[in-house]
Amino acid sequence: MLTLVTGATGQVGRRFVPRLLQSAAPGDKVRVLVRDEARGERFAGLGAEVLIGDLRDVDVLGKATAGVDAVVNVAAAFRGVPDEEARAVNRDAAIELGRAAVVSGVRRFVQVSTGLVYGTGRGRPLVESDETVPGGHLWGAYPESKWEAERALGDMEGLADLRIGRLPFVYGDGDPHLDDVMQWPAMQRLHMGHHLDVAQGLRRLLYASGAHGVYNIADEAPVTTVDLFEVHDRPVPQEVYDRDAPDPWHSVMSTTRIRRELGYRPLVPSVWTAREAGLL
Ligand SMILES: NC(=O)c1ccc[n+]([C@@H]2O[C@H](COP(=O)([O-])OP(=O)(O)OC[C@H]3O[C@@H](n4cnc5c(N)ncnc54)[C@H](OP(=O)(O)O)[C@@H]3O)[C@@H](O)[C@H]2O)c1
Repeated sequence: MLTLVTGATGQVGRRFVPRLLQSAAPGDKVRVLVRDEARGERFAGLGAEVLIGDLRDVDVLGKATAGVDAVVNVAAAFRGVPDEEARAVNRDAAIELGRAAVVSGVRRFVQVSTGLVYGTGRGRPLVESDETVPGGHLWGAYPESKWEAERALGDMEGLADLRIGRLPFVYGDGDPHLDDVMQWPAMQRLHMGHHLDVAQGLRRLLYASGAHGVYNIADEAPVTTVDLFEVHDRPVPQEVYDRDAPDPWHSVMSTTRIRRELGYRPLVPSVWTAREAGLL
């Protein structure tokens, strides 16, 4: 089985690809698409085939999907990029990658998405069958473009075996993301997922026979910004308490589907476990 992974140099991809390679069955191969040759060397050293190119280049997509059995589309543009780039990468390039996969006869397509596509809360954990709610305070080019990609890939003729993983706030393994969140002033509820479990969830989506459609991937213990300061032994700024959470169920996702159907069990059930285990 040859698997193409995009976004290998990002926070998720750089931790997911080594785990994928490590757990690969004999004969299984991984191809990564990276933009920067020098940053691709690490993956070549781990045994991956490295293709250099930009996801927005349609010619690259044909080469990237040639001979491939499965695609895991991790790549996205959302960290400080203009809206046009977010749409070009998250929506347009993801759709073109889906088309290239169909043309190349790729069997399976795993699209990495975000829990932000749900938009506002529902007064309960978000489930995969929930309608998305465009126009809420969480909607901008990033979640919108991810949702448009999900929808277009779902409607794409020939892309029969589509699995979509909606990720929570991803952290751990030295990812600076946790530090970033402490810059946010709002007292906010966050559903988290350690990189170990994101990799677990994505691998289950990649390998499980009979999986189909959307799966939430997250840990067992949504937290607040207060927990995140406390987990780092940092004083909680008063402003964190002064702000009301816009929605107490904000970002909280049910993981019942992936547990029941794919056997997912978080290895790192909470940020507190990650701290105790030295996995932050
Ligand atoms: N991190 C989270 O908390 C979180 C939460 C929910 C969902 N997600 C989803 O998880 C996935 C990975 O997120 P991340 O945190 O790893 O993001 P990231 O650190 O920003 O990494 C993005 C990756 O996409 C690549 N990329 C961007 N534009 C590209 C282009 N035009 N052509 C080729 N590659 C391109 C980047 O390559 P360069 O290194 O060359 O820039 C990088 O490898 C995304 O799909 C995101 O929506 C993440």
